[in-house]
Amino acid sequence: MPASPLATARLLLVISGGVAAYKALDLIRRLRERGASVRVVMTPAAKEFVSPMTAAALSGAAAREDLFSLTDEAEMGHIELSRSADLIVVAPATAHLLARMAQGLADDLASTLLLATDKRVLVAPSMNVRMWLHPATQRNLTTLRADGVAFVGPNEGEMACGEFGPGRMAEPLEIVAAVEELLKTPTALPLAAAPKPAGPLTGRRVVVTAGPTYEPIDPVRFIGNRSSGLQGYAIAAAARAAGAEVVLVSGPVALADPKGVSLVRVETAREMLAAVEAALPADVFVSAAAVADWRVAHAGEQKLKKGVDGAPSLTLIENPDILATIGKSERNRPKVVVGFAAETENVLENARAKLARKGCDFIVANDVSPHKGVFGGAHNEVNIVSAESSEGWPRMAKEGVAEKLVERIARNLE
Ligand code: CTP
Repeated sequence: MPASPLATARLLLVISGGVAAYKALDLIRRLRERGASVRVVMTPAAKEFVSPMTAAALSGAAAREDLFSLTDEAEMGHIELSRSADLIVVAPATAHLLARMAQGLADDLASTLLLATDKRVLVAPSMNVRMWLHPATQRNLTTLRADGVAFVGPNEGEMACGEFGPGRMAEPLEIVAAVEELLKTPTALPLAAAPKPAGPLTGRRVVVTAGPTYEPIDPVRFIGNRSSGLQGYAIAAAARAAGAEVVLVSGPVALADPKGVSLVRVETAREMLAAVEAALPADVFVSAAAVADWRVAHAGEQKLKKGVDGAPSLTLIENPDILATIGKSERNRPKVVVGFAAETENVLENARAKLARKGCDFIVANDVSPHKGVFGGAHNEVNIVSAESSEGWPRMAKEGVAEKLVERIARNLE
């Protein structure tokens, strides 16, 4: 396995003043345990949330904050600081810092070195959901993306302020994965300027679902499954590499956003169906998500409490079948519809039955018995089942399955 680029990376971490600053401390640890060196710069507001002393202890070097510190500037000037790193990571990035970056303001050490750098910048936003959705923030994001700034997150979920929605900072390991991904790509090219790859799917639109769905029992509990999302994410990336415009509708997973792909995050099966329908029309639909078949009929609005009546009984009702809805749609059916069949027995027979029932062109059938290690694992061994034939592929990495699948889809589109 090739060594991770993190093993020799020099990173500059900018911490701005949000509640998620405490997670930046864990991020320092995670980056350093992979071999990276990390210098920390904090905004004055960040110091209200975490102490520069802790950041210094974890990073192994003093955390800098003051643009006008004679001692710091004598040791390493801010221009040099902004250029000596391989990559600058801003985590958490508040709405205010994003606004300053978009405007090119330089009124403290953090914003000054972000303006002075010639290195790529990865940003992990963190803010209240309303602030994230505000047109001003969205305008700033468009500007920053056009400037080549890369983003990881934010995630959707319950926020420290009690509201729910997008705005939570990506988890430290998601940020680590995004850093690793960026370090692998050539440094001279800003991401936004990366040429769109040309290939057999150029000019085609592909919608992919991935990951599990979470069906709420109450505000804190859910019914889910063990899907990692790896296979669906690999398909989205392979379709993009083949030149397609890709919309990836993803349930909750711990994976970094694939580059160049429009990512729509959802939780429940019903949200997933709505997001897929909103992404149509498309040329191709690949349904790789492990959609929960059932949801709780009446999810509790408040946390269910242990009571005198013993354990609650949950009534389940069936979720919409996303694949069947799209595969059998008379109005909007993509030209090629691909389903998956997760089976633990009679793999081929069950896959054939699903092919017809869900209106697919072909089914990727796999045996998900626990001893096969498919769910959550890096490899997959699949059969491609169509009305006319079935073809067994040898066990290979999920990226390999994705590439072969995209070739096959491109042939079906001809
Ligand atoms: N699927 C879907 N919506 C659902 C259930 C499944 O879109 N509510 C899709 C999956 O993304 C996959 C295919 O249908 O592409 C088959 O999923 P699988 O779990 O194998 O089949 P089920 O429909 O759940 O059938 P069964 O329970 O009989 O195995």
